[in-house]
Amino acid sequence: NPPGTLKKTVVMVGMMGAGKTAVGRALAARLGVPFLDSDHEIETAANMTIPEIFARDGEAFFREKEHQVISRLLEEECGILSTGGGAFLAERNRAAISKAGVAVCLKADLGVLWKRVKGRDTRPLLQTDDPYQTLSEIYAARVPIYEQAEIKVPSDGETTIEVMVDRVLEAL
Ligand code: S3P
Repeated sequence: NPPGTLKKTVVMVGMMGAGKTAVGRALAARLGVPFLDSDHEIETAANMTIPEIFARDGEAFFREKEHQVISRLLEEECGILSTGGGAFLAERNRAAISKAGVAVCLKADLGVLWKRVKGRDTRPLLQTDDPYQTLSEIYAARVPIYEQAEIKVPSDGETTIEVMVDRVLEAL
């Protein structure tokens, strides 16, 4: 896959902490294509952080913005698009992605995800009394949906970002 030859946007999906942004950015650099991140676009457009948007306008508002941003970014030059962990759950987003892109799901087990997300305050869905329990419930509910991604790439706690990029490229 030489630079600039992507025929479709590669859309990174999967759980919070799966590495969508880190792997997506490294993949874009390797291929020499644009890197886009839906959460980042939403924050920039709103001039607020994701926790601020959830607190002020609610999750439904965020999901609406997320859908608009993903639809728009899928129309731009092909590149790598990282999405927030909830994006692939919405049927309308899966439909938009399958039309203009290819979904790559990064998979990691609950223990690995927890190590990466714990102690951070950037994810409003985990601001509960028992964030580990919350993460495990979200994980159980979502894993079957992420399985619908065309390409699935496993990672364990030890897998480096560059090895993840190799695995995505092999699967593309
Ligand atoms: C969410 C994941 C977050 C962000 C928002 C909601 C989710 O993105 O979009 O907090 O529903 O899983 P990351 O997957 O990058 O953490």
